[in-house]
Formats: sequence, structure tokens, C-alpha cells
Amino acid sequence: MTRGPPGFCIWLTGLPSAGKTSIGKELIPRLVARGWYADLLDGDEIRLGISADLGFDRKSRETHAARVAFLSKLLARNGAIPVVTLISPYRTSRAHARTTIGRFVEVYVNTPLDVCEVRDVKGLYKKARAGQIKEMTGVDDPYEPPEQPEIVVETQNLTPAQSAEFIIAELDRQGWFAGKPGSPGS
Ligand SMILES: Nc1ncnc2c1ncn2[C@@H]1O[C@H](COP(=O)(O)OP(=O)(O)O)[C@@H](O)[C@H]1O
Ligand SMILES: [Mg+2]
Repeated sequence: MTRGPPGFCIWLTGLPSAGKTSIGKELIPRLVARGWYADLLDGDEIRLGISADLGFDRKSRETHAARVAFLSKLLARNGAIPVVTLISPYRTSRAHARTTIGRFVEVYVNTPLDVCEVRDVKGLYKKARAGQIKEMTGVDDPYEPPEQPEIVVETQNLTPAQSAEFIIAELDRQGWFAGKPGSPGS
């Protein structure tokens, strides 16, 4: 059963260290300020919970994305905006999420691999290059960039807050915020 108007899912995909989590965190308060219930579904956090049983092989990554898509569907149909920050490297997984959720905004966090490698937030590129870990996306595991994302955000010359502002402006322009009761045009 749904309550009120449906929300939609903002699905941020990109390489490790592209900026997904940082931008997602900046998006939440901006969506809440516009009267939406919004929450972050971060891949790493979900791996500590319902995906704790999964590894980084293809099947595990697909299962992980499918679980996040399922959660997002429940949230979106109850009027919330799930903000998903997940590498989600495979086109098929993202297509599955799109079909599952319906109202789906694919945001490609487009940061070049060399920039991600310099950021290397968790030191994983370094470990992968040294052969200490396997199945690292961008190194020895594929990343399939979106072909027709609703939004592409570049992060190189922006702050995370500026990237979030850009996404909010694009969502607005594309009409995703229309029809929220009590917040005309918000
Ligand atoms: N415009 C930007 N958007 C997002 N992150 C940025 C941006 N500019 C620099 N960064 C930095 O890049 C790093 C991205 O890390 P993180 O958000 O954890 O990436 P991911 O979740 O994609 O692995 C952070 O240290 C962040 O401060
Ligand atoms: Mg992250």
C-alpha cells in the first residue's frame, strides 16, 4: 500500500573514490529542506548489514545491487527519496534497478580513473596495484559507464556541495520535484 505521492530513486554510480558517498551526503539535507523524506543507502554501509554475506565477485555485486534496488522500491513507493551510493559497475544491474523501482534517476558520477586513484579514499587502488587485493573496480574488475544516465556530474573542478547543487538543479529542471503537496515548485 502506498502513502501519498510516490517518491523516486536517485542512484549514484561511479568508480571507487569518484565521490558518490560525499555527494549523497550533501544531497540529503537539500532534499529534506524541500520537504522530502530522504535517506542515504550507501553500498559500504549496506555491506555491514543485509549484504554482510556478500563478496566482490560478479554474482555478489549483482545480488548487492538487487537488494538495494528492492529497498529503494519500498522507500520510493512510500513517498521517500532513497539516495543510493553504490559503485554498481554493471549495466545489467542498473537496468534491473530501473525496472524494479520505476521512478529512477541514474546519476553518473563521472570522475576519471586517474583522479580517483589520486583520491584513493580507502587506499584500495594502492592495494590493488600492489596485488594485495583482487576484484577492484577500475583495476582488475570492469566498470561499465552508463549509456543514457539522466544526469552526469563531473567532480574534478567542483566541491561535493557544488556537485550536489548541480544535481538538485538538474532534478528541478527535469521536473522530478513537481507535484509534492505543500511545496509547490519546490
Ligand atoms: N565534487 C566532488 N564531489 C565528490 N567528492 C569530491 C569532489 N571533489 C573532491 N571530492 C573528494 O573525493 C573523495 C570521494 O570519496 P567518496 O565520496 O567516498 O567516493 P565514493 O563513495 O565514490 O567511493 C572525497 O574525499 C571527496 O571529498
Ligand atoms: Mg562510497
